[in-house]
Amino acid sequence: MIIPYEDLLPHLHTIRDFVRWGASRMNQAGLHFGHGTDNAFDEAATLVLHALCLPPDIHAEYCQSYLTLIEKKDVIELLARRITERKPAAYLTHRAWFMGLPFYVDERVLVPRSPLSELIERHFAPWLPDNCKIANILDLGTGSGCIGIACAYAFPDTHIDLVDVSTEALEVAKRNVIDHNLEDQITVIQSDLFAELKNRRYDIIISNPPYLGVENVDTLPREYHHEPRLGLTAGEAGLDIVSEILRQASDYLQRDGLLIVEVGNTQYALCEAYPNIPFTWLEFERGGEGIFLLNHMQLRDAGYRKNDS
Ligand SMILES: C[S@@+](CC[C@H](N)C(=O)[O-])C[C@H]1O[C@@H](n2cnc3c(N)ncnc32)[C@H](O)[C@@H]1O
Repeated sequence: MIIPYEDLLPHLHTIRDFVRWGASRMNQAGLHFGHGTDNAFDEAATLVLHALCLPPDIHAEYCQSYLTLIEKKDVIELLARRITERKPAAYLTHRAWFMGLPFYVDERVLVPRSPLSELIERHFAPWLPDNCKIANILDLGTGSGCIGIACAYAFPDTHIDLVDVSTEALEVAKRNVIDHNLEDQITVIQSDLFAELKNRRYDIIISNPPYLGVENVDTLPREYHHEPRLGLTAGEAGLDIVSEILRQASDYLQRDGLLIVEVGNTQYALCEAYPNIPFTWLEFERGGEGIFLLNHMQLRDAGYRKNDS
């Protein structure tokens, strides 16, 4: 997209002008918003403020500030990249937010957006008794590390393992662990699901695994095609990874441990495939669905336990 920005100069002056102009162009181009914002104004504001090296929460009075010529050019170039490349804003700014915490992201990991942040923020209430001691948590399929790192903030005395099969994703997760100064509380492990976790048992296993069917991904808006396929797809029906988690999880949970997994719309296929598993589907005040909870006993009784140790 070549934008003759000189033509715009007489018309656009302030931060507010550029956010409005960017939002109009995004709507005109039919962009999809689902990676941290849900509308063109917020997406444009994210990019305009990033290009101006300003924080995302500036006071409203600064929106009247005039931009210099160089700033106008920088802002327009970034907005134009969002429109032509169809990359989610987070891949252009390398910044995403999860539970109010900042995370470095690039195309090696999914852009954090799981509703699980709300559950972590409320310390898994009402599913964990008040003041319950949690020794360790596993974030399975950690990507950027956002879920496990958020858990580390919510439970400062708990050890967290971040697990992913992707070397590239783990490089991003490690960077975020260091950025948040959590090296003493978090261990980063490369593992195909539980393969490298022998003899470990967790109080909580939390996971946002890939759960889309291969064909579903092909039909998604272009923005999703910048995300790693390994983070999105799980076989033909999207059930491959979650089925394996269900089969193995009880071997890695403490006796009163919890398994919490996001499966999105695959919820319905999952219930059909496993009619005898008593999934509890969680509700969220800020929106989101398709997240189930099972305890150790429910998993074991469902007959997926490999051994009875
Ligand atoms: C949906 S992404 C979620 C990333 C992150 N937890 C989040 O919520 O933003 C799923 C992650 O699972 C990882 N993954 C896929 N298959 C895996 C496997 N067999 N074992 C471990 N991790 C896997 C992917 O590399 C990806 O990072």
